[in-house]
Amino acid sequence: MHHHNEIKIPTFAVTLQCKYTYVKNIAIFASGTGSNARKIVEHFAENPDFSVKLLVSNRADAPVLDMAAENGIATLILSRKLFYESEEILTALQQHDIDLIALAGFLWLVPPYLVKTYKGRMVNIHPALLPDFGGKGMHGIHVHEAVKAAGVEKSGITIHFVNEQYDKGSILFQASCPLSEADTPQDIARKVLQLEHRHYAPVLEQLLTNIPKLHS
Ligand code: GRF
Repeated sequence: MHHHNEIKIPTFAVTLQCKYTYVKNIAIFASGTGSNARKIVEHFAENPDFSVKLLVSNRADAPVLDMAAENGIATLILSRKLFYESEEILTALQQHDIDLIALAGFLWLVPPYLVKTYKGRMVNIHPALLPDFGGKGMHGIHVHEAVKAAGVEKSGITIHFVNEQYDKGSILFQASCPLSEADTPQDIARKVLQLEHRHYAPVLEQLLTNIPKLHS
C-alpha cells in the first residue's frame, strides 16, 4: 500500500460546512453600558455551537459598541427612521443569519414587522418581577424606585419574549432576590443586576438549544 498516493478526504471542508450549517447566531440589541451584553459575549465565546454575530444600538456613542468591536462583532447603529419606517434591519439580520435576538438595555418599542419575523426568537430582560413594575417608562433606576416605594419583600428579573407591547410578552424565566427595608433603589439595582449577569446567557443558550435554525 502506498499511503502517500491515496486520495485524502478533506475533512476540514466537511467541518466547515457543518459549522456554517449548524451554528446558531445571536444578535444583541443594547444601548446602555452593556454589562449584560458583555456577559452574553463572554458566555458564548467558549461555545462553538453559538456565535454572537451582531450588536445593534440606537446610540452611536454607546460604550457597548466598543466592547463589540473589541470582540470582532459587527455593529449596526439604528436611527428611528431606519427602524420604524424601513425594514432594512431585516436584511442585516438575514445577512448575519441571525437565529435569536436578545434585547439587553434596549428601550425602543420593537415594531410589528420585526416581532413577527422573530416570533419566539426575540427576548428581553427586565429588572423586576413582571407583570409588576413594567411598561413604558419603567426602566433603569425608575423600576427600583417603584419597587422601593411599594415596600415589597423581593424583586428580581424577568426574561420574556418580546411582543408589540412593552414588557407584555410571555415569560420564559424569573429569578428573585430578597430585599430588606434598608435597601436603597441603588442597592436593589445591584442585587438585580447580579441576577441578570448570572442567568441571562444560560437562559438564552437553553432557548437556542431548543429552537431550530431560522433558515436551514
Ligand atoms: C438591565 O437592567 C436590563 O434589565 C434592562 O436594562 C439594563 C441594562 O443594563 N433592560 P446593562 O446595559 O446591560 O448594564
